[in-house]
Amino acid sequence: MAILVTGGAGYIGSHTCVELLNAGYEVVVLDNLSNASEKSLDRVAQITGKKVKFYKGDILDREILNQLFSDNMIESCIHFAGLKAVGESVQKPWEYYNNNIAGTLTLVDVMRQNNCKNIIFSSSATVYGNPAQIPITEECPKGQCTNPYGWTKSMLEQILSDLQKADPQWNVILLRYFNPIGAHKSGLMGENPNGIPNNLMPYITQVAVGKLKELGVFGDDYDTPDGTGVRDYIHVVDLAVGHVKALKKIEEKAGLCIYNLGTGHGYSVLDIVKNFEKANGVKIPYTIKPRRAGDIATCYSNADKAEKELRWKAENGILEMCEDSWRWQKNNPNGYED
Ligand code: NAD
Ligand code: UFG
Repeated sequence: MAILVTGGAGYIGSHTCVELLNAGYEVVVLDNLSNASEKSLDRVAQITGKKVKFYKGDILDREILNQLFSDNMIESCIHFAGLKAVGESVQKPWEYYNNNIAGTLTLVDVMRQNNCKNIIFSSSATVYGNPAQIPITEECPKGQCTNPYGWTKSMLEQILSDLQKADPQWNVILLRYFNPIGAHKSGLMGENPNGIPNNLMPYITQVAVGKLKELGVFGDDYDTPDGTGVRDYIHVVDLAVGHVKALKKIEEKAGLCIYNLGTGHGYSVLDIVKNFEKANGVKIPYTIKPRRAGDIATCYSNADKAEKELRWKAENGILEMCEDSWRWQKNNPNGYED
């Protein structure tokens, strides 16, 4: 029996492949490489000494999905495949709704035809909108998203929940990630954004390596201790381990479950800059810029439910996240193209 990992060549998917292989699972990856390099899977093999079986293809393509299910005994699917650039989703809403929603509908249809009814879905803290309470528990109501990307996550949560209610044979685990950063300790795998990064940590590492001149800090007048935005940064390897724990939960029978995957700690933009400088002895020049549209002041989790029910807890602290992000960027200034 194998685990299907859609989007397995991407940032979180490739780190999850490592943890799955290390835990003894057989892994089949489906990725169209629209935002990833196949080289990430070579690095997975280098780290683990084991190979995943790779299909280059799209979750919208029934033919390749049917082929994959007839070639392999798939027990569960960890579904990472999706487009994720917030700004781009505002420019290209159709592409985002089609890829993320129609893609997932196609995937789950082929899954059920093949009697595979276990899915772990990559959701996001973005579904809470401007959260009603901090720290955010899973009981916190979902909110208004500020972009089509966020709506795809919110709608897919609803779709998968309804599917499970209608057919209780399904096990559906919705994992709401907070802000993944960091990289594999080996320095062989990490985040590999196209073009100028939108997210904070890859922007910082590209300033540190000299590809970008300085960081723009988006707003210093929020209602937070230093005025800059506060987020719950989580090490990507901790996040990856969370998926292995979620699979164990499915093996015991999950039904429908929702978990926050975060650390429970909030750090401001300037906290991240200071910790990065301290961890790595590199200076990060920055200037204060206007607020970025759609940003909220504060977002961090209460992750007690995952600790209690999945026996999972993030282990890496902020200095390790900064060290590991930097090791990856320093060793691979051009990502997987080096
Ligand atoms: P990523 O872009 O590195 O990985 C996504 C992968 O999916 C890529 O390898 C891409 O090539 C592939 N893909 C996209 N559309 C596809 C399709 N139609 N068919 C097959 N493959 C396809 O992103 P990531 O950061 O690893 O994120 C993984 C998942 O987690 C995504 O669903 C993302 O929305 C979600 N998520 C990410 C974050 C974050 O900050 N990184 C936060 C919350 C949720
Ligand atoms: N920031 C800057 N300068 C930058 C980039 C970001 O000051 O160049 C600030 C932002 O204003 C925010 C914080 O750094 O206060 C974090 O921003 P990111 O773009 O790294 O992350 P977000 O919290 O905006 O969003 C991320 C993902 C979303 C996901 C969300 C919750 O991009 O897809 O985390 O998981 F939904």
